Amino acid sequence: MADSENRAVGIDVGGTGMKAGIVDLDTGELVTDRVRIPTPDGARPKDVLETAGELLALLGDDADGLPLGVCFPAIVKDGKTLSAANISDDWIDFAAEKFFEEGLGRDIHFVNDADAAGLAELRYGAAKGVPGLTILTTLGTGIGSAFLFAGRLVPNTELGHLLWEGESIERIASASARERLGLKWKEWADNLQHFYEHIEFLFSPDLILVGGGVSKNPEKFMPYLSTRAEMRIAEHRNNAGIIGAASLARTDEDHLARL
Ligand code: BGC
Repeated sequence: MADSENRAVGIDVGGTGMKAGIVDLDTGELVTDRVRIPTPDGARPKDVLETAGELLALLGDDADGLPLGVCFPAIVKDGKTLSAANISDDWIDFAAEKFFEEGLGRDIHFVNDADAAGLAELRYGAAKGVPGLTILTTLGTGIGSAFLFAGRLVPNTELGHLLWEGESIERIASASARERLGLKWKEWADNLQHFYEHIEFLFSPDLILVGGGVSKNPEKFMPYLSTRAEMRIAEHRNNAGIIGAASLARTDEDHLARL
């Protein structure tokens, strides 16, 4: 199929679910239904790899031979995962890309999940053509961030780990914190407001994007937030990780220079 040349598979490893889809890299659209399997308990490398294999099997023959990108909730540098906030400590200083390449028998590109989401918005969404600095934040099990400046991604910013009263601010402001702490939407939004005020003071972004699972209910919390910079919901919402990981797999670093 000629147009399969412009397709790639993205897998998004989250704290609670692992999701995958086949992406049309010309449009940034998913060309199949998204498939999802709960993240295995403890999220250890061997189990995450096995679940990635099951996701590929669910996508079927169409996924065979396509470039594969995996996005992951950790700092990722040169194919190694260097941190573990909501996953097993086994990922710290772990050659994840190589482990997946050997385990799945294909080339893989590993990338931080928020960076993948940022790339999706930069290439196909709300950050496309935006001048200045866009900061994308993902509100999920943790808080992820991506800095997008002059058409480029600055990888591995970790704004969810800014300290607030002695602990990572994601402990009180992530979407899962709202549930864990039993907060009303307004109470949670107050925590988020601290977060956005702080990053706005530190970095003076021109646009702030809000992504992650909770971005499907913007009316519940966006009205309580106020920032100098324009704030918008990310266009690709919960699929941004899959789309960005797929686009990076196909284009690799080379393409980053041309974004
Ligand atoms: C991790 C980040 C990740 C974010 C969202 C944080 O706890 O440190 O690497 O992007 O969660 O998943």
